[in-house]
Amino acid sequence: RIAGPSGLVIFGVTGDLSRKKLMPAVYDLASRGLLPPGFSLVGFARRDWEHEDFAQVVHDAVKEHARTPFREEVWQQLVQGVRFVSGTFDDDNAFDTLRRTVDELNEARGTGGNFAFYLSIPPGSFPKVVQQLKKHGLADPPEGSWRRAVIEKPFGHDLASAQELNRIVHDVFPPESIFRIDHYLGKETVQNILALRFANSMFEPLWNRSYVDHVQITMAEDIGIGGRAGYYDGIGAARDVIQNHLLQLLALTAMEEPASFDADALVTEKLKVLSAVQLPEDLGANTVAGQYTAGWQGGKKVVGYLEEEGIPADSKTDTYAAIRLDIANRRWAGVPFYLRTGKRLGRRVTEIAVVFKRAPHLPFDSTATEELGENALVIRVQPDEGVTVRFGSKVPGTSMEVRDVTMDFAYGESFTESSPEAYERLILDVLLGDPPLFPRHQEVELSWRILDPIEEYWATEGKPQPYTAGTWGPAAADEMLAREGRSWRRP
Ligand code: BG6
Repeated sequence: RIAGPSGLVIFGVTGDLSRKKLMPAVYDLASRGLLPPGFSLVGFARRDWEHEDFAQVVHDAVKEHARTPFREEVWQQLVQGVRFVSGTFDDDNAFDTLRRTVDELNEARGTGGNFAFYLSIPPGSFPKVVQQLKKHGLADPPEGSWRRAVIEKPFGHDLASAQELNRIVHDVFPPESIFRIDHYLGKETVQNILALRFANSMFEPLWNRSYVDHVQITMAEDIGIGGRAGYYDGIGAARDVIQNHLLQLLALTAMEEPASFDADALVTEKLKVLSAVQLPEDLGANTVAGQYTAGWQGGKKVVGYLEEEGIPADSKTDTYAAIRLDIANRRWAGVPFYLRTGKRLGRRVTEIAVVFKRAPHLPFDSTATEELGENALVIRVQPDEGVTVRFGSKVPGTSMEVRDVTMDFAYGESFTESSPEAYERLILDVLLGDPPLFPRHQEVELSWRILDPIEEYWATEGKPQPYTAGTWGPAAADEMLAREGRSWRRP
């Protein structure tokens, strides 16, 4: 799969995402030979840069963050198509210049009129930019070519704002030309959830309420908020990652087999399962918001959230969130799905643990099984990508004693192929016009429907629960599971 003639315009090129992920991904695609020779990259930002200044920024970003080794010949080919347009989002002259730049590239580089516009900018600016694209004729493709809009999350901050945003974007671009990025769907291990479930026969028979006790989805980060106070404060952990990444993981774990792997079939199943998600009646007992306080991490002292630069001293933003959800359908009735995420937790790990019911009867005396836990299948999304199955096994020796052991699949050991970075895969799919890995607006809206009541409840609750940086979150989150006779895994 190699992209045809095309170019990419990035709005917000001075941001972190662009420097750490987008520009390196473009280089990696070029380096793997997946971009056409005339591919062009246009940056748009307020800085007073010339094309050469921007090219230098791309160069440095690539050298620092690209996955593939730096090769001069790849770079020389790419840099010929790098351009910069300086301006603010309401500057009509700048959008005229952008229009001329795009036309010039079509002539000079043979991009064929095909351009994607990547909005790596604060959501408040989405409406202005899409309207400018329309006003300056950039959104309408010339005969026989395409124009696409790529929108980074967050898609709004609640259901109402997401609906409004969708309305504005749909006004300018037809639905098939809008690509919403949820970069978790670009991860190999996330795509593998469907391969694991639907390419095999041994898991799916157990994948239901008869055998599964509960499911835990964890996305733990060791980092704090870094320099992202402006974005993060007032948004918080649940809006930042549960609304999108974690609910997508839940959907892929819990959905029925799609009729095929095309986007319509996938979205049909994801919508069905997301519509069946039910919130607990008692939100106080079944959700926890937390906020980190100063502590130690990786041998270093780190400040608390309220001491981070740019955070108001009375901020009520959650940097940790845990919620219990139920799925009201025949497969999952009565099986809780526990979702948790947080900054400054014990370590960086994302995993989905399907925890099975205990054996109905154990023909051993009780001392033999003291060290036997529940069977579990753990999809290790990152950083140690793979799958683990945990089960009991006889301890070697002269007596009958059973203890937990694990059976592991590790990507690094089983495959020689290297995984593309999530953004590489997603940018390539945008250029190819391949939609299965991009959430549709109905999914986004359903996810907000799930989260809104929780956020509203937390807003009335006062401060989130404190937890020390470097630990596994507030005690209340442990109590939430303990009341139901369960506990969080310590990955
Ligand atoms: C982003 C969130 O979507 O995902 C960040 O906005 C978070 O807060 C990041 O750090 C984590 O991504 P990854 O791929 O490192 O798990």
